[in-house]
Amino acid sequence: MYKLDQSKTPFFDKIKAYGMSHTTPLDVPGHKLGAIQNEFREFLGSNVFRLDANAPRGLDNLAKRKGVIKEAQALAADAFGADHAYFLINGTSQGIITMIMSACKAKEKIIIPRNVHKSAINGLILSGAMPIFMKPHIDSELGIANGINISELKETIEENPDAKAVFVINPTYFGVTSNLKEIVKLAHEHDMLVLVDEAHGAHFGFSEYLPISAMEAGADMSAFSVHKTVGSLTQSSMLLVKGERVNVNLVQSTLNILQSTSPSSLLMASLDTTRSYMALNGPEKLKELIALAKYARGRINRIKGLQAITKDYVWSHRGYDYDETKIMVKVSDLGITGFDAYNILSSESNIQMELAETHLILAVLSIGTTKEDLDRFIEGLKNLKKHKKDETIKHKIRFTYPETYARPREAYHAPKRFIKFEDALNEVAAENIMVYPPGIPLVIPGEIINQDILDDLDFYREQGSTILSDTEGDYVKVVDKDNWIKYEGDL
Ligand SMILES: Cc1ncc(COP(=O)(O)O)c(C=O)c1O
Repeated sequence: MYKLDQSKTPFFDKIKAYGMSHTTPLDVPGHKLGAIQNEFREFLGSNVFRLDANAPRGLDNLAKRKGVIKEAQALAADAFGADHAYFLINGTSQGIITMIMSACKAKEKIIIPRNVHKSAINGLILSGAMPIFMKPHIDSELGIANGINISELKETIEENPDAKAVFVINPTYFGVTSNLKEIVKLAHEHDMLVLVDEAHGAHFGFSEYLPISAMEAGADMSAFSVHKTVGSLTQSSMLLVKGERVNVNLVQSTLNILQSTSPSSLLMASLDTTRSYMALNGPEKLKELIALAKYARGRINRIKGLQAITKDYVWSHRGYDYDETKIMVKVSDLGITGFDAYNILSSESNIQMELAETHLILAVLSIGTTKEDLDRFIEGLKNLKKHKKDETIKHKIRFTYPETYARPREAYHAPKRFIKFEDALNEVAAENIMVYPPGIPLVIPGEIINQDILDDLDFYREQGSTILSDTEGDYVKVVDKDNWIKYEGDL
């Protein structure tokens, strides 16, 4: 099935041999392969430090791959069904920004769903691209945003035939996908690239029981968090490229702009070994995991007042496909919010959920999840009944998005003022304001702050969600329109 020998881990082998070689380290990093004694070193032991070398001879260079990194990346491309694979040491965020910057120049259009991650907005700022937002499907029972509609995409493409790319999320944070094959077909017919945020779908290519992966669907690029669902160290991700439409020289130059010149060898070794393990064992392990998730879903659905979301539910709510390794549980019929359940599970059952929304909580499983973990989860969920209230949880999700006044990059460069949220009505945002998780922007630079946004901010604050913005406290950064001389060039 694979062209290359997937049992090989060339980068890991080489860095391990170096770490054990008793070389005298007169280079950086300063911990000298673990020679400095401190609490951290004591806790971790020496092996982590032995593998944390910078760029010793023979270890290749991530910015200009010729040796073991090139070999390791070729194995990754083979395993993930791509033509080229790039190790990312700054997460999928780095991959998403690279995809947008290599597909769009300033003022060029990109068609993009509104429920994108912050990194996509940062990609718009850095590239200068003009977003053409599409509304995702809204599941009003669960209060979440899902995939996009093919007929709406068709219309958007027809209205914007000059767009350079279509950006797709496969899957959303909640595990729902759109009809990616159809999206790719449509975009390619109109000479547009398909860029896929696969942050939560790195495992897709390894199982026939999961939604289709971006590469299988024929997309041009995909960035995915190997660390999120497959098991490498946090921050380690990959970018994949397939086909002839992408300028791979530009991709490499963009990656080099965005990444450290001291890439972590620990992260790269972790990617190398995780890829090999998944290529050899992924299909079987994922099959077991899906069966385990099904078992848990069945038991959760027997607890009165709780609903574990199934594929049938997703299909009946306009979703195209669903990643069954995620367990979404609707808790609001107990009269408590997902935020309440998240806190109760943590404080009373020592369970850390991935995220909470008004109606639900989300568990992200991986091949590292055990039956014991899920049994504890089920017990924790049963315990929620103690907190049942006689309340109706009100649904809250926005259906409208703010109007655009300027491109994100223009707003980013415009003169700014800091004002209180309560005074921000009708001002032009100069920063992202988002709720985390799931990291979806309420407003992005260049958009007009309307009453819906101010109401949402109040709502999420009351729920105790983390509101992320660049500005401290109750202040927001807005464009100082009175002193703004708009630059008309190609900025
Ligand atoms: C949908 C989505 N895209 C992209 C990212 C960014 O991934 P990373 O954390 O690997 O940079 C995230 C992270 O939460 C995400 O949820």
